[in-house]
Amino acid sequence: MSVSKSDFKKVTTNSVQEMKRQGEKISMLTAYDFTLAGIVDKSGIDVILVGDSASNVMAGHETTLPITLDQMIYHASSVVRAVQRALVVVDLPFGSYQGNSKEALSSAIRIMKESGGHAVKLEGGVEIIDSIKRILTAGIPVMGHLGLTPQSIYKFGTYTVRAKKEAEAEKLIEDAKELEKAGCFALVLEKIPAELAQKVAENLSIPVIGIGAGAGVDGQVLVLHDLLGMTHEFHPRFLRRYLDLYTLINGAIQQYVEDVKSHDFPNEKEQY
Ligand code: KIV
Repeated sequence: MSVSKSDFKKVTTNSVQEMKRQGEKISMLTAYDFTLAGIVDKSGIDVILVGDSASNVMAGHETTLPITLDQMIYHASSVVRAVQRALVVVDLPFGSYQGNSKEALSSAIRIMKESGGHAVKLEGGVEIIDSIKRILTAGIPVMGHLGLTPQSIYKFGTYTVRAKKEAEAEKLIEDAKELEKAGCFALVLEKIPAELAQKVAENLSIPVIGIGAGAGVDGQVLVLHDLLGMTHEFHPRFLRRYLDLYTLINGAIQQYVEDVKSHDFPNEKEQY
């Protein structure tokens, strides 16, 4: 599907909430740069997440912790310049909101002012509720993120499924209710049992968007480079690959190298 002028209508925080009410699933993907964000937007995605997974995917870090607020603003502003229809949500990076609510608000304001993004996403539950409330007082929409929260990887120790045990599942349900009560417009649930995710989605009126959280939620999000098969050594169970771009790019570049070495490229038509 390609978005035509007739079905062009900007996606807003209100429209994703309306999608939940209407039972229409919400599609969300990451993007970090102008070129791919433009393709993603024109392909009809509802929400583009400028994720702090840019730390892994774009910069090659092992975790999401090193990416800075300035770097997130750089990625987000590149994405915003390409997007005409999708709602653009930008991750607040590690260290830019956990200190106190004032710091959280000034980080969120910088994202909105300097990148032109439409909303921010923060990881965590009740422990960051003051920050969420303060950001919301400035009219900045907030998306929550519970379950596997990669910014806390050194606390968890692994990237395995979260909230399998009763106590953690109960805490997640409580956190989700608090995030909705505080005013979050939507919530991401990452890598938790499908049954629990469905229960949360059924009990909240805001949209719940899952990654590795099963089919019973209101929408799905994936990292674009995973979906395209560029991160070919990463194959969690929840990932469906729609392309094997790693192999395609690899083959194209090998062919180019061969053509240069064999004097085949450029030919007479490819020169002035
Ligand atoms: O940073 C990111 O890509 C994310 C998604 C995995 C939800 O937070």
